[in-house]
Amino acid sequence: MGISPMPSSKKARKAIIHLTKDTGTGPIFDLGSGWGNLLIPLAKEYPERQIVGYELSLIPWLIASLIKEILSLNNLKIYRKNFFKADLSSASVIVCYLYPEGMISIAKKLISENITSCILISNNFSLPSQQPKKTVQLDDLYKSPVYLYDLCFLNPDI
Ligand SMILES: C[S@@+](CC[C@H](N)C(=O)[O-])C[C@H]1O[C@@H](n2cnc3c(N)ncnc32)[C@H](O)[C@@H]1O
Repeated sequence: MGISPMPSSKKARKAIIHLTKDTGTGPIFDLGSGWGNLLIPLAKEYPERQIVGYELSLIPWLIASLIKEILSLNNLKIYRKNFFKADLSSASVIVCYLYPEGMISIAKKLISENITSCILISNNFSLPSQQPKKTVQLDDLYKSPVYLYDLCFLNPDI
């Protein structure tokens, strides 16, 4: 749906996990969790936090679910579900690696559902018409960005 299950690079994963360090103890949601390349390290990094993944593609979802069982990651839930139809209201942090149109739809969902007490961390794709609180430039070939948004400051005009 819009993007293949291509995982975040190692550098992006490291940067994203680093950015989650100052975000309290609330749930972290990975929208489009793929094979679990970011989700599983998040669940290992924060055994005391609820980590939630949403993934539509069957095989990546199955593999990530299998790894979760093998590693007994009891703080992790992985749903085979369209995250646009999911209730994101309990998320403290949302992480994603999507595509430009996906970011527009995410912004519209967050605004229409009034989800503002949350941090959004996006690998490579920015939220339209929004000012990130932080931008990390990865030390890779493309100098890829990772954006952190404080949704308290979400601009309703997309
Ligand atoms: C580029 S991968 C990112 C995987 C993982 N988050 C990471 O950073 O390694 C994006 C994933 O989002 C999934 N996806 C895209 N739209 C989705 C939707 N509406 N609901 C659930 N999963 C979706 C795709 O199937 C794909 O596996």
